[in-house]
Amino acid sequence: MTRIGIIGGGQLGLMIAEQARALGVRCVALDPAPDAPAFAACEGRIVAAYDDAEALERLCRECDAVTYEFENVPGEVLQPLVAKYHIPQGFEPLSDSQDRLREKDNARANGFDTPAYAAVDSEATLRRAVAEIGLPCVLKTRTLGYDGHGQAVLRSEADIERALPLLAVPCILEAFVDFDYEVSLILVSDGERFVSFPIGRNVHRDGILDLSFVPAEGLSPELERRIRATGEAFMRRCGYRGILAVELFVRGDRFFFNEMAPRPHNSGHWTIEGCSTNQFRELVRFLAGMPLEEPRQTAPAVMKNILGRDLDAARRIAAEGHEGVYVHLYGKSESRPRRKMGHITFTGISAAEYAEKWSKYFEDRCCE
Ligand SMILES: Nc1ncnc2c1ncn2[C@@H]1O[C@H](COP(=O)(O)OP(=O)(O)OP(=O)(O)O)[C@@H](O)[C@H]1O
Ligand SMILES: [Mg+2]
Repeated sequence: MTRIGIIGGGQLGLMIAEQARALGVRCVALDPAPDAPAFAACEGRIVAAYDDAEALERLCRECDAVTYEFENVPGEVLQPLVAKYHIPQGFEPLSDSQDRLREKDNARANGFDTPAYAAVDSEATLRRAVAEIGLPCVLKTRTLGYDGHGQAVLRSEADIERALPLLAVPCILEAFVDFDYEVSLILVSDGERFVSFPIGRNVHRDGILDLSFVPAEGLSPELERRIRATGEAFMRRCGYRGILAVELFVRGDRFFFNEMAPRPHNSGHWTIEGCSTNQFRELVRFLAGMPLEEPRQTAPAVMKNILGRDLDAARRIAAEGHEGVYVHLYGKSESRPRRKMGHITFTGISAAEYAEKWSKYFEDRCCE
């Protein structure tokens, strides 16, 4: 019986473990919170800090393969383990995604276009970079950003002044891309075979992913083919294995790399019900050494993220019982207005049908 270890016990770990179970694979998760969502679906739990080297080593010893479900696992603890145990994705894709500057240099070097960018670490370098790149632009901390935290859009001189506190840590300044829409590409590879999921169109709200629509309206089959081919070539050139999610901006017939993550991605949750196989299952197959399966979309799908402020609406929808509507609640014990508490996948509907029938359920939510 294969056992998979997961560093991190959030909702991604939960869904990895759920899919593993269906394949006859057991999981052990490591998370500092005793009530971490993934523990509910794992046969083993290790409650420990992510930088607890002894606990991480125990996870590796207890499992046949280890993966991570969040990006900020410290290299100092992971690297020595990669040398000793089976962590088949390795540290490299993680390390390449942990610093936005290295991430973009790497994307460019391996076949993706990116927005113009520059490293900044002081008011003087920021002003020089703004002069070069132009307004509007986006200032982001190089490390530890998520859900729009640690970034500021600069549109005016006053915005530059206001953004200066971000420079307490090294930052990157990026050109603001006036994109038509955002998409993400999810690939899984065992080093030889590559599979990728149909590309969805993502809509963010307040810096957090709100909705994914698949198929992505406006994305031509030709552009989708080019994005998938570029992603595959990128992964091959970088030598990455396992799962990789790439967020992109689309403008006309061009696309620009925004960021990547070597873990399942929020925008791919729809694959659980809308696809012949899903992102979690293919990751498990990779980790367990099983052959990968090429995903095929079985129904148009819309994924709606459920934040704390949407929880009542989600519970109502779950209780009502609708065909083709799949409510996932992650079982987090504490709800906050902007915390991801679950998601709903609506299958068999278009974006227009979602707007007409479902968006009203989420309109009366409070804002924080
Ligand atoms: N250069 C840019 N031009 C235009 N919009 C941008 C740019 N960078 C970021 N954004 C917007 O802000 C969102 C969040 O940015 P980004 O993905 O870099 O940060 P994040 O905090 O890691 O987000 P998440 O964790 O939600 O993926 C993007 O999805 C996009 O909507
Ligand atoms: Mg992002």
